[in-house]
Amino acid sequence: MLALKRSGASAEASTEVARGSRDDSSPQEPCYLRNMISKCRWKLLAMLAFVLVVMVWYSISREDRYIELFYFPILEKKEPCLQGEAERKVSKLFGNYSQEQPIFLQLKDYFWVKTPSAYELPYGTKGSEDLLLRVLAITSYSIPESIQRLKCRRCVVVGNGHRLRNSLLGEAINKYDVVIRLNNAPVAGYEGDVGSKTTMRLFYPESAHFNPKVEDNPDTLLVLVAFKAMDFHWIESILSDKKRVRKGFWKQPPLIWDVNPKQIRILNPFFMEIAADKLLRLPMQQPHKIKQKPTTGLLAITLALHLCDLVHIAGFGYPDAQNKKESIHYYEQITIKSMAWSGHNVSQEALAIKRMLEIGAVKNLTYF
Ligand SMILES: *[C@@H]1O[C@H](CO)[C@@H](O)[C@H](O)[C@H]1NC(C)=O
Ligand SMILES: *[C@@H]1O[C@H](CO)[C@@H](O)[C@H](O)[C@H]1NC(C)=O
Ligand SMILES: *[C@@H]1O[C@H](CO)[C@@H](O)[C@H](O)[C@H]1NC(C)=O
Repeated sequence: MLALKRSGASAEASTEVARGSRDDSSPQEPCYLRNMISKCRWKLLAMLAFVLVVMVWYSISREDRYIELFYFPILEKKEPCLQGEAERKVSKLFGNYSQEQPIFLQLKDYFWVKTPSAYELPYGTKGSEDLLLRVLAITSYSIPESIQRLKCRRCVVVGNGHRLRNSLLGEAINKYDVVIRLNNAPVAGYEGDVGSKTTMRLFYPESAHFNPKVEDNPDTLLVLVAFKAMDFHWIESILSDKKRVRKGFWKQPPLIWDVNPKQIRILNPFFMEIAADKLLRLPMQQPHKIKQKPTTGLLAITLALHLCDLVHIAGFGYPDAQNKKESIHYYEQITIKSMAWSGHNVSQEALAIKRMLEIGAVKNLTYF
C-alpha cells in the first residue's frame, strides 16, 4: 500500500518534470531549469531511499509484513513429526490397548447401542448413562477438520506449573497444531509465557473458568472430564438453562456459563482409566474413603498420546520438597499444601512422567 502510494506520487512528479522541460522554450533560463531537474532528481532519489528505509524498517518490525512484502518463504523450525511415533513409544507403558476408542463420547454409542462400561465414573459410565444421554443429545463429539486433516499432529500439553513463569515459551507454544490446557488456567496477561492458542481445555465443573470467553478462543473445545454423575447434571442444566443444582460439588461451579454448546465435548472416561491403571497403577475399584485419581494434567498427557504423533509438555512438576512456600501455579499463589486432600499422589505422578520422558514418548519444554 505504502509502496504503491509512493510510486504514484513519484510518477506524478516525473510527469511534472517532463511537462516542465517541454514548456521551457525560453532560452533565458536554461540554468534554472537544469538546476531544477537535478534538484528534483535528488529529491526523488531521497524520497525513494526514504520509502525503502521505511519499508524495510516496518517489515522487520513486523515479521508477517516482511513475508508479505518480500515473499520470503516461511522458515519455521518445526520439530520433525513421525506419524504414529507417540503411540509406538508409549505402547511399552500402555500395552496394545484399543485404538478404536473415540476421544469424545458419542450419542450413538449410548442411544442405539447401550455400550456397557465396566466401571463407574471417573473410569467408566456405568450407572450414569441416562444423564449422559441427555448431555450427548445437546453437545457434539466431532474433532475439528483442521486437526483431522493433519498427517502428523504436533501437540503440546500446557500444565499450570509455576515453572512457566518467565519461561517466554508463549510464541513456541502457539506454533503447535494442538495446544491442550487445563482447568481454569488463564491466558490473558500471561501470553508471553504460556501463549494464547487453546485447541482444547480439559475441565470439570469445579475447575471451570468463570469467564471462558476471555481465556479461550472462539473455537476452543471445552472438554468436560466427568468425575461424578452430578457433573453431567451440571453441564446439562447450564446448556439447557434448567434449574441449577448447587449441592454435590466440593466447590461452587459457575451457575451462569457463557459458552457455545458446539464447543463442549465429553471426554471418554477410557483415558482416565488408562492414566490410573497403566501410569499410576491404581486399583480400579477403590473404597470410597481412598479415592485416588490422576490429575487433569496426567489425564491430558494420556489423551495427547492417543490423539497426537508428537507430544511435548510444558509447566509440569511441583516445587521441591524444601521449597514448600513456592506457589504451585503460574497464575496464583497457592502452595503444595493445598494438594493434601486432593486425592492426587504428586510423587507417583512425577515418577510416571519421568518414565514417559525416559522412553521418549513425551519431551519436556520446561525443567522436569
Ligand atoms: C503389541 O503388539 C506388537 C505387534 O503388534 C507386539 O510386538 C508387542 O509385543 C505388543 N506389546 C504388548 C505389550 O503386548
Ligand atoms: C504416593 O506414591 C509414592 C510413590 O509411589 C508412595 O511411596 C506413597 O506411599 C504414595 N502416597 C500415598 C498417600 O498413597
Ligand atoms: C527437561 O528436564 C530435564 C531434567 O529432567 C532438564 O535437564 C532439561 O533441561 C529439560 N528440558 C528443557 C527444554 O527445559
